[in-house]
Amino acid sequence: MPAEQKLAELRAAVAHHMYRYHVLDEPEVADAEYDALFDELLSLEAAHPELTSSESPTQRVGGQPLSHFEKVSHEVAMLSLDKTTTRTELEDWIQRCRNRLGDEVSLNFFCEPKIDGVAVALVYEDGRLVLASTRGDGQTGENITANVKTIPSVPLRIPVSQESGIPIPVRMEVRGEIYIPVDQFREFNQRAINQGDKPMINPRNGAAGSLRQLDPKITASRPLTMFCYSLGWTEGDWQPSAHSQVIAQFESWGLRTNPLVRRVDELDSMMSYVDEVLAKRSDLGYDIDGVVVKVDELDQQETLGAVTRKPRWAIAYKYPAEEATTELQEVEFQVGRTGSITPVARLKPVFVGGVTVSNATLHNMDEISRLDLRIGDHVMIRRAGDVIPQVVSVIQSRRPKDAVEVVLPTVCPSCGSAVTQTEDEAVARCSASHNVCPAQRKEGLKHFASRLAMDIDGLGDKLIEQFVDLGLVANAADIFHLEMSQIAAIERMAEKSATNLVEAIAASRATTLQRFIYSLGIREVGEATALSLANQFRSIEALIAADVEALVSVPDVGPIVAEKIRLFFADSENVAVVESLVGAGVNWPEIELPDAGTVSLVGQTWVLTGTLEQMTRNEAKAILVGVGAKVAGSVSAKTHQVVAGPGAGSKLAKAKELEVPVMDEDEFVTFLKTHGLVE
Ligand code: IVH
Repeated sequence: MPAEQKLAELRAAVAHHMYRYHVLDEPEVADAEYDALFDELLSLEAAHPELTSSESPTQRVGGQPLSHFEKVSHEVAMLSLDKTTTRTELEDWIQRCRNRLGDEVSLNFFCEPKIDGVAVALVYEDGRLVLASTRGDGQTGENITANVKTIPSVPLRIPVSQESGIPIPVRMEVRGEIYIPVDQFREFNQRAINQGDKPMINPRNGAAGSLRQLDPKITASRPLTMFCYSLGWTEGDWQPSAHSQVIAQFESWGLRTNPLVRRVDELDSMMSYVDEVLAKRSDLGYDIDGVVVKVDELDQQETLGAVTRKPRWAIAYKYPAEEATTELQEVEFQVGRTGSITPVARLKPVFVGGVTVSNATLHNMDEISRLDLRIGDHVMIRRAGDVIPQVVSVIQSRRPKDAVEVVLPTVCPSCGSAVTQTEDEAVARCSASHNVCPAQRKEGLKHFASRLAMDIDGLGDKLIEQFVDLGLVANAADIFHLEMSQIAAIERMAEKSATNLVEAIAASRATTLQRFIYSLGIREVGEATALSLANQFRSIEALIAADVEALVSVPDVGPIVAEKIRLFFADSENVAVVESLVGAGVNWPEIELPDAGTVSLVGQTWVLTGTLEQMTRNEAKAILVGVGAKVAGSVSAKTHQVVAGPGAGSKLAKAKELEVPVMDEDEFVTFLKTHGLVE
């Protein structure tokens, strides 16, 4: 097959899988398979630089940094919306529409969530994304094309052949909102805080900041996505007559649209929609600040027109504010599972976004200095979805004279040990081990019992605190020695729930090695690392005995994590707890080697590079993954083996530099034959 055709096929395949994953949230292939396709595309493009294309999915990683953003003037102004907060006002709005359109017309409305992100306009020419711009002042925005191209859910190209038979417009402008999903916002911030970087203030701010980067590579590293919600303008044969048609067409063109949209024809159904979406608000996974109701017929929209930069044909029904001002009464310091000392704001209770808030997280001392926060200050707080409330800013003009500076305690509020802070971390920590500090012990036990760890149903945070305070539980193994009478003696604990808890504790003994390792709460060892460790060492004794060298050979384990693991098991109390847990009957099935009798590459990372002639890279990858190897896209010190076909370039050079073993294709095929992996 000519390279040109192969490239086109690969690009289409990669774009299709990106669409399945990022737009539909229904991937058809495993991540590894997608990675392999992407790698294949990368190397084919590297081999044929003359065939590069700005539309290739490989171009999303972000090009050259810009020196500034060009101004873009919008062909049709980007308007803002009139707002309402009551049924009566909504009713008035419908009446105003009727008055202008005439009583006899049939009116339909289209309801959508109002996404709290950043408005953008995308221009597609012959289906190709040629321009992305911000709203700016509505007339003039900024050209952020290079940044928007890095967002995986934004199609670079709308596929030409369409089942619907609707031709792709010669030119059209798609409008929508770019935002950061709430869970990815939290993950991003957690990582930022752990690395001592500045966290984002909230998802909307984070999205705006990410789009304002001059270096698209930074934007590419941010978890942005987009909902498309209107057609700015269009040129060509496609002339939709209703907004609902536009949205349906967007969907079939692979543009990501909100699944909660609904067409309604009167006030009651509009209000039910408003209530339904409000009830779902905290579970949506993204921030919204209300719903938008639009007149559906595009002709009617045109007749209604706009006044003072706001269309008459649409209105925003806004939900209760999620920001409010209140007073900071105190800052307390909480001790986490790993000894991290986190400042928490105690606030004068205030009603925000439907709930009363009296606490807010302050992350760390850097955050307190950034806000210039003092006790007694009036502060603006924000609550979005189910995110822990945040202090957004201090109202400096209202600072009382006697406002008190916040100081980091010198000793741990739980155990009195010294508080220390290293230069490479933004967080301060209690210097005692979790075997000494009761707060760390409680948090550690909560982690041990949690769903992804030992999953002890019914053993919640409150109960754990009571068990520790009563001296019934000092370490994880004690949980398995709790007696019915001790549990039942706890205040308010009914007999039935005591029995259930005893049973849940007993049932949790049967676990997996991965869960068990994860449940120990070793710093930096999350679920994924626990799985890699379980697969590599296959017994807890082997893990305890592992030295740093053995640990860093595990995929995903670097020197820092390896050192944390080694330190954990160097503490004899930790080893004693592990032993008592096993003694108390905690058990897991042996980790099976794939297909006993053949070779196992569990725990090994292989890299395939260059072109293979006797099989495709995908076939080679499938065989390796089938015997437990991880096949990675780049060579690092943790790579166990590189297979280099003809044309191998930088990866081969890197392997030589790092002294990673390399075999050529013949040696690889011999290896596979020796182990019965190919005929
Ligand atoms: S329609 C003239 N639909 O709200 C119509 N806007 O206050 C305006 N927004 O700048 C756009 N979700 O950023 C529309 N489903 C939605 C929206 C939405 C959020 C934002 C948009 C706009 C602002 C107007």
